[in-house]
Formats: sequence, C-alpha cells, structure tokens
Amino acid sequence: MPTVEELMDAPDAWYQVAQAQQLPTPVLLVFPQRVEHNIEQMLQVAGGPERLMPHVKTHKCPQVVQMQLDRGIRRFKAATVAEAEMTARLGPQEVMLATQPVGPHIQRLVQLARKYPQVHISTLVDCPQVVDQLAQAAQQAELELGVYIDVDPGLGRTGVPPGEAVQELFRRIGAQAGVRFAGLHVYDGHMGKLPPEKRPGLVDAIWQKLQPLLDWLDRAADAPYDVVAGGSPSFPHHARHPRATCSPGTTLYWDLGYGTRVPELKLQLAAVLLGRVLSRPADGRVTLDLGIKSLSPDQPRRAEVYGLVGAEMLLHNEEHYVLQPREPCPWPVGQIVYAVPYHICPTVALYDEVYVVREGQVVERWPVEARRRSLGV
Ligand SMILES: Cc1ncc(COP(=O)(O)O)c(C=O)c1O
Repeated sequence: MPTVEELMDAPDAWYQVAQAQQLPTPVLLVFPQRVEHNIEQMLQVAGGPERLMPHVKTHKCPQVVQMQLDRGIRRFKAATVAEAEMTARLGPQEVMLATQPVGPHIQRLVQLARKYPQVHISTLVDCPQVVDQLAQAAQQAELELGVYIDVDPGLGRTGVPPGEAVQELFRRIGAQAGVRFAGLHVYDGHMGKLPPEKRPGLVDAIWQKLQPLLDWLDRAADAPYDVVAGGSPSFPHHARHPRATCSPGTTLYWDLGYGTRVPELKLQLAAVLLGRVLSRPADGRVTLDLGIKSLSPDQPRRAEVYGLVGAEMLLHNEEHYVLQPREPCPWPVGQIVYAVPYHICPTVALYDEVYVVREGQVVERWPVEARRRSLGV
C-alpha cells in the first residue's frame, strides 16, 4: 500500500498556483487535466463508457459531468434531487436518484422527469409503499419512472436482502403503471474498509449470491435490466462481471483516504485546498485557516499539508486547524499552504465554487452548483 508520504511526494510541486498570493483563502483548487486522467482510468477499468454510471456527489459540478459526457459516459447517479437536476440539464441518457425518495422528494422527482422528458429519470426503492407513491405520482403526471430495487450486499445502510423481498418489490412495480423495473442497485460501501486482497473474492461472493435472483429475474422481466454496482474500492472487481454497470464517484477528484486504501487504482489527486498560516501561537504550533467549515472533519485525520506531512492535529475548530509539525517549521503568519483532504466529497460540499488550475494558473471558476439542496424543482 502506498504511504501518505509517497502519495504526497511531488518534486514538481504540480499543485502550486501562480496567483496564490492574491487568492482569498481558503480556496479549493481543481486540476482538470488530472480529472481527465481519472476519467480515462475509470473508462479503462470499467471497460468502456457503457459500463459506467458515475456518481456526481463528489464534485456536484456541471463542468465535471460535461467532461464525462465528452468521453461518451451517458448515465449518472445522483444523491439528491438537486444533483439529479444539475445533471439532467446537460442532456445525458439517464440520471438515477440513488437515494430512495421520501416525502416531498417524490413529487420533486416527478417534476424533474417532466422538466427533462428526453432524459430517463430513475430512482431506487427498498420499500413497497414508496413504489406505490412513486407509481401514483408518475401516473398523475402521465409519465413513467425507471425504478431499481436496492439490494443490500452487506453494507447494512439501505436495501433488501437478495431474495424474496426483491421478488415482491419486482411484482409490485410490475403491477402498476407509472413505474418500470429498471434493474438492481447493489452498493457495497463497506469494501473500502477491507484489505484490498479480500475485495475480489468478496465481490465474487456478492455475484454468487445474486445469481439465483438474476436467473429468476431473467425469466420474469419482460425487458432487459441493469445491475448497477460498486463504488471506487469495488468497481474494478464488479467490472469483471459482464452484467455490472459500475458506479464510482470519488474517482473523479480522488483523495488520501482512498489513495492509501485503494492502491490498485492509478488515479491522481485532482483537488487541493489552498490555505494560509493564520497564527503561530507557540513554538511547534502552526495554525491554518482550514477550519471545519472549509475542511470536513468526518475523518480522524483530516488532511496532509505539503511540507508538513505527518503533522499532528491539536485542534480543529470552525475556522482554525492547529497542527504540531514533526520538525521545526519556519513558516511565518501569512504563508501559503496546500493541503490534500483524506475525504474530498464532504469538503467539496463546503465550497460555492472551485478554482480551476491549468499549467499552474487559475484560469476560471466552476460552481459547486449542486451543493444547494434545490436548484429548480
Ligand atoms: C449509492 C452510492 N453509489 C456510489 C457511490 C460512489 O462510491 P465512491 O465514493 O466509493 O466512489 C456512493 C458513495 O457514497 C454511494 O453512496
């Protein structure tokens, strides 16, 4: 497994930007050439654009969806109706809301399908009542929604076991107008925590468990259906199964959490925080302006700072990130710093926009549009 030191090794200082002194930190920098590299890797690993349904929750950004559309990827997953709307506007083939819609989100999803009739709007379910509510709302709007059955492969977050409960949901979908069975959704977010060498066998075990169900569905379904499976740590293994459509998301920007735990993916870090030293309150203490409102606190280690790799975190407050470097640090107040988060997705969601860097220059800004909960519908 690569060490953090190896991942942060950057003799060419690729992350530095010429305008750093003028930028009001904290700022999130995105490097599109690195994002492009990551898209190529996703395509290679999955085996082609038709094998991918990437998640947009990592970047929440229309320009990053467009980069994937430009490479022939036509189907996307979204976590919120706003993410689905941002994506649908760009005219893909399909957008799946990969969170079961409940309450007003059912009507919002139907409104979205109405607003973008040329896009297949789909979602997932694990609850019979939601099937009924979706069917009713879609019938009233005179449209049809694709519905995936959410199968739990062991994460224990959502979904039903791969057996009778799936068959019941399948029949319930088939019995009503307004909803169409689109396939199975199998998200195994627990794979990231497991040692890399265990993942291939465990993914094969998921498919073995699914097989009787797939045999049954092949007989019962009157149209082809999909099996949408996996996130970053497992999609290389799902890709070996010809029926899988792979749905990684973090792969677009990458981060240190996955960088250390999923070494088999040759992805590049593509998003970096730019900050400043805010204070030197004591010898051996460096306080940065990367508080929890600009660097997500959801991981035990938040980030690594170029030049201070391995520094211990002493405090992480709303606007302050206090580090104890391993070696004496000469940085004065105002010093520019670059930091790579361990978990990029929740950090992105803290920013209204990202600063786009090409050849060491900030050239434009892109909105993190779907960080909002609602865009139109
Ligand atoms: C349902 C679902 N699908 C796909 C993904 C993408 O997984 P990853 O972040 O490992 O790429 C996620 C991540 O949270 C998810 O929740």
